Amino acid sequence: MFEQPIPTLCRDGDRLLILDQALLPFRSERVALTSVDEVAGAIRHMQVRGAPLIGATAAFGVALALARQGADDATLQAAIALLGATRPTAVNLHWALERMAAALRPLAPARRVEAAWAEAEAIRHDDAATCEAIGRHGLDILRALAARRSGPLRVMTHCNAGWLATCGAGTALAPIYAAQAAGLAVEVLVSETRPRNQGLLTAWELRAAGVPHVLMADNAAGLLLMRGEVDLVITGADRVAANGDTANKVGTYLKALAAQAAGVPFYIAAPHSTLDFACADGSAIPIEDRGADEVCRLRGMADGTDPAELATLRLAPADSRVANPAFDITPASLIRGIITERGVVAADALASLYPEGGR
Ligand code: MRU
Repeated sequence: MFEQPIPTLCRDGDRLLILDQALLPFRSERVALTSVDEVAGAIRHMQVRGAPLIGATAAFGVALALARQGADDATLQAAIALLGATRPTAVNLHWALERMAAALRPLAPARRVEAAWAEAEAIRHDDAATCEAIGRHGLDILRALAARRSGPLRVMTHCNAGWLATCGAGTALAPIYAAQAAGLAVEVLVSETRPRNQGLLTAWELRAAGVPHVLMADNAAGLLLMRGEVDLVITGADRVAANGDTANKVGTYLKALAAQAAGVPFYIAAPHSTLDFACADGSAIPIEDRGADEVCRLRGMADGTDPAELATLRLAPADSRVANPAFDITPASLIRGIITERGVVAADALASLYPEGGR
């Protein structure tokens, strides 16, 4: 079983400890959250991020609210409403909050606090086990492709769908870690993922794990695919609609288009908590708009300075008109398959693997 080098999320008495991803890849620091407002802020400001981790953190946020404020119906409802309004696209958030509500509402308030911590822990364990299974199924795909070529298998990914984004090994990166454990040679092409640069988190993870990887600008993906320098693309997902259309970090759609044009298989890795059968297709998925600041300013370390002194650089005037959709939709027709914990399925046949429906 994959063990996270630093737990992305854990309970410490009546507080939560998170790995503050807003400081990565420059500093790895754990931060304590002591109220549901702090938990909501950490999700909104992306100190925790990645669809599965957002869901699990929200579940712990509900438990924290009940433990600290009382376990009456009004507190439960307010915590769910506050956390549910933090980020709109990743459906894991709503999945986790609905699961908490279903477990807690029928209980008398006196029994809710203990049950809330237990349910949140169950969600965390479920996610770790799910990542592990996605890794196993994804490894079958990697093995089949590797058998047809010599040299390391070249896997392109986008954003960060590794252990940082989950409570386990990750989704898109779980097959990579499974390949490493199995002795299968892989090289990962990591796009920087402007404007938030989550690709740097992926590079940080892979470097620490000793997985060979190449960092590239987002716009290099098309050429590398066209030149035959990529064997497959795997990304994560924030919400998969009933017809297989998939929302993931903005830029995913362009990779899928270029992969299709180059004849390179494009896969989505997604757990059950990311499937939303209530959305008929991608047009029903809400896309988060994160405003101008992320595009106009860049955070990093000035050359020769200390990681303790992160600097912000202005790239464009503050009053620039900016478009900053945080996600895009990849149509099911561009997706070779969805790697789930139950196996790999054609994007338009998801329901055959989940006859009970999602969420
Ligand atoms: O905005 P973020 O960093 O939360 O977006 C993350 C992604 O888009 C990931 O690819 C997705 O959540 C899958 S994480 C296993």
